[in-house]
Amino acid sequence: MKIHYFGHSAFALEGSENILIDPFISGNPHMQGRSLPQGMKFSHIFLTHGHSDHTGDVETLAKFHQATVVANFELASLMAGRGLKVESCSLGGLLHFPWGWVRQVPATHSSSFEGQYAGAPVGLIINIGGVTVYHAGDTGLFGDMELIGQRYQPQVALLPIGSTFTMDCEEALEAVKKLRPQIAIPMHYNTFPVIKADPQAFKARVEAETPTKVQVLKACEVFEV
Ligand code: NI
Ligand code: MN
Repeated sequence: MKIHYFGHSAFALEGSENILIDPFISGNPHMQGRSLPQGMKFSHIFLTHGHSDHTGDVETLAKFHQATVVANFELASLMAGRGLKVESCSLGGLLHFPWGWVRQVPATHSSSFEGQYAGAPVGLIINIGGVTVYHAGDTGLFGDMELIGQRYQPQVALLPIGSTFTMDCEEALEAVKKLRPQIAIPMHYNTFPVIKADPQAFKARVEAETPTKVQVLKACEVFEV
């Protein structure tokens, strides 16, 4: 599986089909002067919650790629109201796709879309071609990350480190200790001044204190698992 990072919390996972997660692209300072990979087609777009730095370009991209938007029931309903093709589930729910499966897990955050209630914020456990990735969404540290680690043994954990709205490096280090992934990829930092963080300092701490390797990605970098 290939992991494409677009800065902030936006990723594409490339397997037998390609999916997008939290597609904040055109307004994303990390993506200034850049675009999604030419010719890459997306079957599904996953949203962890309704905030604009996560829903971003979902309408344009879902229409362009004729992709299905996958979110919790409330956010999926709001997207359906925009004329998008949707599929929904709720916390704990498992969805099967031709390319793998996705389970929604909790995130400690809030969620609204353009001022409307958008249900619970979520994290995603995504399995593509036997590789399991945990996208934590926007979240604080919570004890059940230990359960997520035990139950799903994600090879890769995508973790916010930017503080203010999510975990900071200190909390994300604790998250790594609970999840015990092979690889951690920091996200949701240095997009705006209020979420300034040093990913290299995070990498140094994690690699000194745990067996997990940290992969720091720049926008449009690709990492193969
Ligand atoms: Ni948010
Ligand atoms: Mn956010």
